[in-house]
This record gives sequence, structure tokens and C-alpha cells, in this order.
Amino acid sequence: MAPVIKLNSGYDMPQVGFGLWKVDSAVAADVVYNAIKAGYRLFDGACDYGNEVECGKGVARAIQEGLVKREELFIVSKLWNTFHDKERVEPIVRKQLADWGLEYFDLYLIHFPVALEYVDPSVRYPPGWHYDGKSEIRRSNATIQETWTAMESLVESGLAKSIGISNFQAQLIYDLLRYAKIRPATLQIEHHPFLVQQELLNLAKQEGIAVTAYSSFGPASFLEFNMQHAVKLTPLMEDETIKKIAAKYNRAPSQVLLRWATQRGLAVIPKSVRQETMISNLHCTDFDLSDEDIATISSFDRGIRFNQPSNYFPTELLWIFG
Ligand SMILES: NC(=O)c1ccc[n+]([C@@H]2O[C@H](COP(=O)([O-])OP(=O)(O)OC[C@H]3O[C@@H](n4cnc5c(N)ncnc54)[C@H](OP(=O)(O)O)[C@@H]3O)[C@@H](O)[C@H]2O)c1
Repeated sequence: MAPVIKLNSGYDMPQVGFGLWKVDSAVAADVVYNAIKAGYRLFDGACDYGNEVECGKGVARAIQEGLVKREELFIVSKLWNTFHDKERVEPIVRKQLADWGLEYFDLYLIHFPVALEYVDPSVRYPPGWHYDGKSEIRRSNATIQETWTAMESLVESGLAKSIGISNFQAQLIYDLLRYAKIRPATLQIEHHPFLVQQELLNLAKQEGIAVTAYSSFGPASFLEFNMQHAVKLTPLMEDETIKKIAAKYNRAPSQVLLRWATQRGLAVIPKSVRQETMISNLHCTDFDLSDEDIATISSFDRGIRFNQPSNYFPTELLWIFG
């Protein structure tokens, strides 16, 4: 079992979970079922991943077969950008819960701090970034305060046990903390040796917000988009320094990358559809790196961000990490 992180909401969150982005809906039910069998208890989903129905089927099968009880699982989902207007939040959460076949999410996050114009699920689901499904970006007027207040209502109505944020940076977090009646339990961010974001981590620590790292393997997740700055870099798992450290502990380079994050207090949510690698990823907390090795890996930092809209599509109208 993975260790847990105590959230400021009072709940325990597994420190190692399973990421569901780009898990093909054709295999998602089996992948989730197999991951539960392998010992995963946290699943990181989202409306945008387009596979919540199938992931829910995997969960249902595991529960039906007695592998696990609902309360032993920690299911995370996220509010997509087109549902930030206050009257859109609860209905879409109810739809997402119905898709999963669940009564509550353990954690529900604002996926990105940008509000886009509403697209009805009957028009297109998941809606994606573009209003017309092709190239048009239309922003909505919802403020983060409006959206956060609607998120707080989800806790009050029992639809989410904890709420949090993703892809937020320091300025906006300081602002949100001014009005939050319920503080964000977690902050989910891109985090790997090429993007350490130490000041953001310091802020989260000081404010008692747990941090979850996504894309822990750096460029690995972005090669399939043929992202040029991902393709050009030496993959972290093939880097000689990382490989040398891994050999010292008799571990896989992937486990070293995950341990570097968990040992510094973060949660991780690696995605792998392969049985052997998903098991290896889960077993990444039963050894300790030396302080020196942690510092060596941290020194890879180059401030390289892969997961930003302007890396995906040419529509130059959305610079949310600007
Ligand atoms: N909040 C956000 O905006 C946001 C953004 C991105 C991601 N996320 C979340 O974070 C999760 C993880 O991030 P991610 O999916 O971008 O990337 P990741 O977990 O860093 O990497 C996934 C890639 O690495 C491969 N891989 C996984 N384990 C491996 C291992 N032990 N050895 C070799 N290759 C391995 C996978 O291939 P195989 O599947 O073929 O093994 C896949 O290509 C996502 O699934 C999602 O839940 C959130």
C-alpha cells in the first residue's frame, strides 16, 4: 500500500496514484480494474480525458468482485474550463459522477485557471479547448472566485469530499486564499526534474496545501504529440546521471524519478497502461535516495513546461502560463 498524505480537509490521500490521461477508452475499464488489482487506490481522472464512463466500469467490476470497497478508493476528477460559470458547476459534477457510477468524488479540482464559454454536453463532450471544436477560443466572464464558491458548495452538498486546484501559480493562489471559506486541499502541477517550481512548492507547504506532481517523467508523456522541445531532450529515464543513481539503488530510473518527488513530500500519479510498469511505478516509496542524489536530480531544473495550451495548438489566443 502506498503511504498517505494527510490533507487539510482531514482526509488521507494515497501518495502514489494512477493517472488516467490518454488511457484509451477502449481499454480504460480493464486498465483501471488491473490497476486496482495491482494495488492502486487513487485514480486521477477528468472530464477532458474522455474516459470517465469506462474508468467507472473498471471500478464497478473491482467492487463487484470484492477486490476493494468504494471507501478504500480515492477518486479524483476535474472541472473543465467550459464549466466555470457558477450555475454550470454542480450539473457537470453530477454528470461526471453518473459517468463514473459514483455518489461522490474524493477530490475535485479546477483543471485550469481559465474560464471558457459554456459548451453543452449534448453538443460535444468532452468539449476541449475550442468553442467550435476546431480553432475558436471563447473566454467566459466567470472569475475564479465565482468558480471556487461553486466548488465549495460541492463539499457542502456531499458531492466532493475535498476540493482543490490545478495548474494555478502563486499570484492566483494568494488571491484565492483571501476569499476561500474552504481552502484548496491540493494543488496539482506539472513537476519533473526539468520543471521543479521550488517557489510554488514553498508557498504550498507554507499554506498547508498538498502538492500532486503530474507528468513526473517529463517529456515522456509529450512525445506522442511530436512536441519539438520534448523530442529534442534526452528522455529522463535514459539520462546517464539518472541511470547511474538508479543502478546504485538497484531500481528502475522511473522509480528514482517518482521517489525524488515523493521523498520531497509530493504525491505522484504516473500513468502506464502496461501491467509490469504500472506495478513498478506503484512500488516507488520503499527505498530512500540520499540528500545528495535528490539535490543532483533537482539540479536538472531548466524551467521547461510541456503541458501548456500554446504547445498543442496554433490558436495564439490563450497564454495561461504567461
Ligand atoms: N492537471 C493537469 O492538467 C494534468 C496534465 C497532465 C497530466 N495530468 C495527470 O497526471 C497523470 C500523469 O501524467 P502523464 O500521463 O502526463 O505522464 P507520465 O505519467 O509522466 O508519463 C506517462 C508516459 O510514460 C510512460 N511510462 C509510464 N511509466 C513508465 C515506466 N515505468 N517506464 C517507462 N515508461 C513509462 C507511459 O507509457 P505506457 O502507458 O505505454 O506505459 C506514458 O507514455 C496523467 O495521466 C493525468 O492523470 C494532469
